[in-house]
Amino acid sequence: MLTREENELLTRVEGDAPMGQMMRRHWTPACLAEELPEPGCAPRRLRLFGEDLVAFRGLDGVVAILGEHCPHRLASLAYARVEQSSLQCLYHGWKIDGSGRVIDMPSEPEGRRNRPIVQLAYPAREAGGLIWVYMGPQESVPEFPLPPWMDKPGNSIAAGKIHEAANWAQSIEGTIDSSHSSSLHSSSIRADAGVTGSSDRSDSTDLQVARPSNDPSPRIEVQLTGYGFRYAAIRRPIANPETTDYVRVTVHVAPYITMPPTADRYRMAHVFVPVDDHNSMFYFIAWSDTVVLDPKVWQRENAANMGVDIDSDYRKLRNRENDYLQDREAMKHGSFTGIQGIPFQDMAMQESMGPITDRTREHLGASDLAIVRFRQMMLQAVREFVAGKPAIGTAEPRVPLTKLRAFDALLPKGSPWRELRASPEEIASFRALRDAASATESQAA
Ligand code: FES
Ligand SMILES: [Fe+2]
Repeated sequence: MLTREENELLTRVEGDAPMGQMMRRHWTPACLAEELPEPGCAPRRLRLFGEDLVAFRGLDGVVAILGEHCPHRLASLAYARVEQSSLQCLYHGWKIDGSGRVIDMPSEPEGRRNRPIVQLAYPAREAGGLIWVYMGPQESVPEFPLPPWMDKPGNSIAAGKIHEAANWAQSIEGTIDSSHSSSLHSSSIRADAGVTGSSDRSDSTDLQVARPSNDPSPRIEVQLTGYGFRYAAIRRPIANPETTDYVRVTVHVAPYITMPPTADRYRMAHVFVPVDDHNSMFYFIAWSDTVVLDPKVWQRENAANMGVDIDSDYRKLRNRENDYLQDREAMKHGSFTGIQGIPFQDMAMQESMGPITDRTREHLGASDLAIVRFRQMMLQAVREFVAGKPAIGTAEPRVPLTKLRAFDALLPKGSPWRELRASPEEIASFRALRDAASATESQAA
């Protein structure tokens, strides 16, 4: 439970709100790279931290991000023409380059065309399937840190996104809430003694995940780190529960990247970016150095198929207005929620709490420990930031994000998971344990 003041401090990101100001000290995902598919394509309207922006790709292929409204009389530059590496406003033809300089004002008389008018512009960067923006103080733009999914130069990366009508912190609390998967996503998770950790199979609507446990109430343990925290959800496995634990370790990089454990085939990150106080954008990114990932398949698996699940602004077609098309008949026949698509199930719950949930009225339990720690960490960080300390995750020495790894495994009971980093050797030993567990199972059968 938080006080009203703490809830405001944690959630508000617009204008001078300290949390938003602190988050702006990080390079932030602005949109998918595929939203600006080619030089000179249509600009994209963006909203971040309550600011309306426009992103465009010039004829030179370089992406730039400007304030959405033309400095002349504020028409939207989302309709502008892309000319060389600038935008030309349709209304009176003013041209603004990627750095925000107004380079032509044809509606003005000759002698008045080079007034030093500057449009809001933020540094942009294209990397790892996304366009990134730096919206912090422009006198000290930090170096771009490689995101976790750029750990190897040859990675195959697939990314997608879905709009969520809920505050960013609410969205993150949904992803670090390990216990809900045993209830909310139970139709998509199959208990299987023969797997060491998550293994997946997808069909056209949902990712089907197999796990070696059917324990609905994990024990949560948290480890605070310089970049954020890791937490373990520890469950009783189906096989050998007396000697073994099923441990899922999730990595949270402050302020908004979470990496849950996945199957061997690929790794995964969830990023929740503040659109404004009441909305966020959910990015889901998969990467692999062994298989080639198809972004369209990945988007479909995550119920982000454009025209079927979401519209061209990444808003859900099954949403609060139509009760997510919840199907009560399907609920009688095996679907736990009647809501199609794992992200839709999550968002239905998170949005139903109200855009900024009233954290003064909750009754938290032991399974909410990661959420409690997340709030404590961010509240402490923002108070320190206000007092003049660096934003969380920006103080040196910084851990390279490409070194962080989530994992899940069957481990001997009481294993020191905090010391495990899921190195290749560790993963090999997890596999040995899995093989031993399934051998025991088949002997018993
Ligand atoms: S409003 Fe854009 S040129 Fe006049
Ligand atoms: Fe979920």
